[in-house]
Amino acid sequence: MIAPFRETPAELRSMAHSDVAQVADIERRSYDFPWSHGVFRDCLLAGYHCVVIERESLVVGYSILSVAAGEAHILNLCVDPNYRELGYGEQLLDEILNRAALAEVREIFLEVRPSNVKAIALYEKKGFRQVAQRPAYYQAADGREDAAVLSKVLKRSG
Ligand SMILES: CC(C)(COP(=O)(O)OP(=O)(O)OC[C@H]1O[C@@H](n2cnc3c(N)ncnc32)[C@H](O)[C@@H]1OP(=O)(O)O)[C@@H](O)C(=O)NCCC(=O)NCCS
Repeated sequence: MIAPFRETPAELRSMAHSDVAQVADIERRSYDFPWSHGVFRDCLLAGYHCVVIERESLVVGYSILSVAAGEAHILNLCVDPNYRELGYGEQLLDEILNRAALAEVREIFLEVRPSNVKAIALYEKKGFRQVAQRPAYYQAADGREDAAVLSKVLKRSG
């Protein structure tokens, strides 16, 4: 029997420099103001936690997490437009949360455009809540757009 599309296995692994071309291609097809190849290379060089999700040898998504001083920041989380709504975004976010827990992170943060309802739904599903707003944070076609700051507490202090 042929496995349904959704059930084709996908694996998480560390991002390598050789993945940057595929990752940057997904980025370019996903955002109006995409990160360049150089930004991804810098994330790898900086030692951020950079992960790809791969399906039949094809990179279909990626995430980038920085961890410092008991806090973590999700810098990017993206799934190829052709492979969305198959659970890969959630798989990447689960991996991020596991990684942050292993690093004994107290709280994990991210910025998201308030217009990005799909991403906000994903984060809220995983227990993130809006804690602040950063005015004029993002570039937008007609000027700037605010960012919603979302966070999830992983470990209570004290
Ligand atoms: C946000 C994103 C990563 C979700 O990835 P995905 O693989 O499509 O998501 P999943 O299939 O794992 O879905 C997980 C949850 O996300 C939310 N979600 C995903 N697609 C959605 C949609 N079209 N409408 C509403 N909610 C949606 C739902 O809560 C969903 O849970 P459910 O299936 O139980 O309803 C993807 O849309 C994406 O890459 N967007 C562009 C990049 C981006 O905006 N990244 C976030 C930057 S902060």
